[in-house]
Amino acid sequence: MTLEEVKELDQKYYMNTFGSRTELCFESGNGIKLKNIDGEEYSDFFAGIAVNCLGYNHKRLTEELCEQVKNLMHTSSVYYVKNQALLAKELADNSCADRVFFANTGAEANEGAIKLAKNYFYKSGNPRTEFITLKNSFHGRTLATVAATGQEKYQKPYAPLIEKFTHVDANDIEQLKNAMNDNVAAVMVELIQGESGVRPLTPEYVNAVRELCDKYGAFMIVDEVQTGIGRTGRLFAYENYGVEPDIFTLAKGLGGGVVIGALCAKEEAAKGFTPGDHGTTFGGNPLSTRAGLVVIDELVNNGVLENAENMGKYFKNQLDELAEKYSEIAEVRGMGLMLGVEFKDEIAGKIGAYMRENKYLVGVVGAKVLRIVPPLILTKEDIDGFINVLNRALNEI
Ligand SMILES: Cc1ncc(COP(=O)(O)O)c(C=O)c1O
Repeated sequence: MTLEEVKELDQKYYMNTFGSRTELCFESGNGIKLKNIDGEEYSDFFAGIAVNCLGYNHKRLTEELCEQVKNLMHTSSVYYVKNQALLAKELADNSCADRVFFANTGAEANEGAIKLAKNYFYKSGNPRTEFITLKNSFHGRTLATVAATGQEKYQKPYAPLIEKFTHVDANDIEQLKNAMNDNVAAVMVELIQGESGVRPLTPEYVNAVRELCDKYGAFMIVDEVQTGIGRTGRLFAYENYGVEPDIFTLAKGLGGGVVIGALCAKEEAAKGFTPGDHGTTFGGNPLSTRAGLVVIDELVNNGVLENAENMGKYFKNQLDELAEKYSEIAEVRGMGLMLGVEFKDEIAGKIGAYMRENKYLVGVVGAKVLRIVPPLILTKEDIDGFINVLNRALNEI
């Protein structure tokens, strides 16, 4: 099929929620390279929005998934699921969580986190109904997570929204202090706001969230859907802050491209769910949890996490050098391989397009920010190639 034929079908039959898509359709990939329908290769620094952490056609992941497909893909959680139990253990062993529930997406994991916190207080006999989240956050597209998301553009058509989410400015401790009260079930934060332009929370703020949650007996929920699974150079972004959440959520990178989400909680918070309180048909099936097992093992035991940390530092240095050279760059920020380049003017779209024309894929957030979230397996040579093209883009635009 040609791109034009795919477009024709898409325009006729697909419910268009994505606006005008980028004029590309990929058919295969290898390492950090994607090949489009016309056989052209692109270096991918977007990784399917921070998903494909092991890149494409990863030998072990592909082989284990093929084997799993042949053996068993799905049984439902009515039965015991070996890979689910093993992955829950891996996540618990490698994090501050004691228990894990598997969902299918980030929104679903966050929806579960909100339900868990609410149900915990309901069961305790002192129901709490309020959540505090941050302005410019993004937590997903279900009704509860749209209400949690601190951006009006996602909420408007769905009013009245689920009660009650209060949105406060990120990094403003006073505002958070004023918003806290005894009815708050949880404060939910992304430690680096990805969708609104790779904006890290300050360590002081994250510590204040923890302290205020402790003071008011509320849960601290960290949405690690984008920051989790090695993205920031640590397995979980909260490790960079030296603060442990009561509940955190995962999706994106956890399956290395296979659909999976996870709700992870400390023992006390996990008491919020008892049999019958929550459920899923697909969540944590043998196939997706096999993917999760490979991903975690590759990260923790086969050097991918270390690579993410090292390449993240190298990448940030190279970008900082570009920022010294070009006054068009206002700021370089982020951690590990979750990096943002903010321009002074609204040139991010142009830069992104130039890079695409030169066979590099990168995310563009709003008019001013590039979001760089490559596979965690990338090399110095890959980074040098990216920097070289970005340098040319800044020279020529
Ligand atoms: C921080 C964060 N939370 C939640 C979500 C929603 O995840 P999903 O699209 O898998 O539902 C996203 C997606 O971009 C995200 O970045």
